[in-house]
Amino acid sequence: MFNYSNILTELRKDGYYRERMAVDSPQDRYIVIKNKKVLNFTSNDYLGLANSDYLKEVFYKKIRKYGVGSGSSPLISGYSTQHKELEQELTRLTKLDSTVVVNSGYLANVGLINALSDKDVVILQDKMNHNSIIEGTRLTTSQLVRFHHMDYSDLSEKIKNIKNKIKIIYVDAVFSMTGESSDLKKLSSIASENDALLVVDDAHGFGVIENSSKNFPSSLSKYHKSDIDIDAYIGTFGKAVGLFGSFISGKRDIIELVIQKSKPYIYSTALPASLAGTILESLRYIKKNTSLNIKLSENIKIFREIAKKENINIQESETAIQTIIVGEPKKLKKIQDSALEAGMYIQAIRYPTVPKNNDLIRVSLTSSHSIKDIERLLYFLKTI
Ligand SMILES: Cc1ncc(COP(=O)(O)O)c(C=O)c1O
Repeated sequence: MFNYSNILTELRKDGYYRERMAVDSPQDRYIVIKNKKVLNFTSNDYLGLANSDYLKEVFYKKIRKYGVGSGSSPLISGYSTQHKELEQELTRLTKLDSTVVVNSGYLANVGLINALSDKDVVILQDKMNHNSIIEGTRLTTSQLVRFHHMDYSDLSEKIKNIKNKIKIIYVDAVFSMTGESSDLKKLSSIASENDALLVVDDAHGFGVIENSSKNFPSSLSKYHKSDIDIDAYIGTFGKAVGLFGSFISGKRDIIELVIQKSKPYIYSTALPASLAGTILESLRYIKKNTSLNIKLSENIKIFREIAKKENINIQESETAIQTIIVGEPKKLKKIQDSALEAGMYIQAIRYPTVPKNNDLIRVSLTSSHSIKDIERLLYFLKTI
């Protein structure tokens, strides 16, 4: 018989057992864990908005007007004018045809794949794609083909051999565990040469990636519109936007298909209208307050400069996610514990989130960090 307690014993023995840390404060530059105030390097709240006074005021006002719950799924009565306005704004920001707001980034991927899937569909994925994309595909009758991480020759080779099927290339725009960015121009041309769709999950780029143009910060804003052709684009509200929820923008028929066919969309209670309205204000706030993204970019640059100067072996990444491979889960856990003792919370990422022996420290930088915070972390990491 299947022995569940053996599985737990094995996890403990191998150093892969996960413990949740109960935070007793708002998400911010400092958080309180086990009655101790610690400098937070683990949050995806990249623009420091999760505890913003402005957004809290907006949320209170929206709650007074729309209440706290949505009462039902979007196709019954859970969809509101707040959701509709938010979708219209996201369509303008992404410059795609249409948008649907969904309950989380995880469900955006599971739900989109659910709507697009069929036994004649093949979904080609980068090996380092987020779990929701891989697991979302495994839940369907579609075929899953994985290509080596950011290896576009491997993708071209694999896609060429697929005949008489609907092909979908599906990637993270920014890889959540390494911070590397996919080449969307190259992927667009592979998709077009092979008559495939291209779907991009920009959970860690939406609201984050700064550029000099007037576009809303995202991985799309780095490219000329004519250089990329995206069929569906996913962004989340739980990271840079500071709240919770997600959306899918894209070609009109694809979004329509999600609304008509996606089971996680159809059979789940909608986000509250008060939350949808606050998300909309957060997007406007990000667009207006460009200094947040400028500060985040400066922090990323400073982190990398000091790390290199101090010979700390950081991996390649131009985004807010910076990593150091430790390779050994028990050693990694010890580093995390001693960082906590020193007043800093860093994330230890272990197998199976990353491949075996690639266990790593993942540092999330935000616009709230000061240069002193970054120096403090790096001088600590230098001693390990
Ligand atoms: C690439 C990617 N997609 C989707 C998600 C899930 O988003 P959410 O937290 O909104 O469910 C994450 C979360 O970390 C992610 O990294």
